[in-house]
Amino acid sequence: AASAMWGGRFAGGPAAIMQRINASIDFDKRLYAQDIRGSKAHCRMLVKQSILTAADGALIQEGLDKVLAEIEAGDFPFSQALEDIHMNVESRLGELIGEAAGRLHTARSRNDQVATDFRLWVRDALDGMDGALRDLLAALLDRAEEHAATVMPGFTHLQTAQPVTFGHHMMAYVEMISRDRSRLADARNRLNECPLGSAALAGTSFPIDREATAAELGFAGPMRNSLDGVSDRDFALEFMSASAICAVHLSRLAEELVIWTSAQFRFVTLSDAFTTGSSIMPQKRNPDAAELVRAKTGRVIGDLNALLIVMKGLPLAYSKDMQDDKEPVFEVADTMELAIAAMAGMVRDMTVNVGTLRAAAGAGFTTATDIADWCVRALKMPFRRAHHVAGSLVKLAEGRNCGLEDLTLAEMQAIEPGITEEARAVLSVESSVNSRTSLGGTAPSRVRQAVAAARRRLAED
Ligand code: ARG
Repeated sequence: AASAMWGGRFAGGPAAIMQRINASIDFDKRLYAQDIRGSKAHCRMLVKQSILTAADGALIQEGLDKVLAEIEAGDFPFSQALEDIHMNVESRLGELIGEAAGRLHTARSRNDQVATDFRLWVRDALDGMDGALRDLLAALLDRAEEHAATVMPGFTHLQTAQPVTFGHHMMAYVEMISRDRSRLADARNRLNECPLGSAALAGTSFPIDREATAAELGFAGPMRNSLDGVSDRDFALEFMSASAICAVHLSRLAEELVIWTSAQFRFVTLSDAFTTGSSIMPQKRNPDAAELVRAKTGRVIGDLNALLIVMKGLPLAYSKDMQDDKEPVFEVADTMELAIAAMAGMVRDMTVNVGTLRAAAGAGFTTATDIADWCVRALKMPFRRAHHVAGSLVKLAEGRNCGLEDLTLAEMQAIEPGITEEARAVLSVESSVNSRTSLGGTAPSRVRQAVAAARRRLAED
């Protein structure tokens, strides 16, 4: 049978396979609330502009409320034959209120309708993600404050480099996640313009009020160009880009948790709530949640790529390719929700093994830079020469299989006569981190300041 929506020109219905490739209802039903909200705003505006009668307007509003209630109650008859959420809602509206339903689509196309619905949906997703990131930040800040003075090894090339504090390490992620939030906020600003009223592509001959619908839907204003309004999906790409960058941050922290929980490191222990056992090896505690956060980052990056590639070859304005914009975005939103919450849970629950961290912080001559710095300060030595002196001390200690602090004063003076007892004081990991008070440095006093400042910023937005 020909379609009820465009039957005028069609004698026959679609092939079964056509219906399957064409229908999006299985996934775009997630837009139902935004679709109905958009339709109600459009309808109200049509009445205000005397394009629709108040009586028809009232019927439509009531009918749309009923449709919403049916969907939310789980007894809405979704139909593949009706393609997508827009036609499913409109068709059901027709069953409920009759002819007036057919007037709702005046001065509108599914093209501006779906662009509006999707922007509303992504806006909600951005807001939800921002809330989740705030929660993760709160967890990171608590652990950073608690461990502002906990010494651990800092790494470059995954080789022990210099002692840092655990709090400082957590605060590095606070910075990254804070930038992620600011990227989401930027994306939200640009997203927040309303395409409704662009109609199919050219605008409409009806005297619509686009300012009114934009305002009712919480947009800052209408989009300025109808072709752009129906044909760009950069808002979805920006959401996924910001998500992908955030996912990369989560993935790096996840990777660190995987490394840190291994028997060779034992820097932290994840709680039972965020680990699994092995069905064969009784001793195992696997960091599955961290591994999965790391893995799911691949999906998020993949979804961003998928939509970039869909969009790159499309001439203006709408092409059906753009129906494929939704699944990647939904997957990104769902994945990020899980990954952020799992990360917040792991961070909140993990035990930080202070003793292990301290021992590791001292291993590998991590205070060699401190003795070089001492030579520069106390002996006015050029840094390059001081580096050489410290290197010789390391070589000596390595040969003896001991730490720098285990060398006697006489042994040290044999390498550099200017070295005094005072120099030996800089060799402890505590004195090393305490001395790094430069702006942004790892000293506990700096970390405490950074935590307080980050807490203030978080409270402000
Ligand atoms: N389901 C469609 C989508 O998501 C709605 C827009 C259809 N527009 C059209 N011209 N066929 O893209």
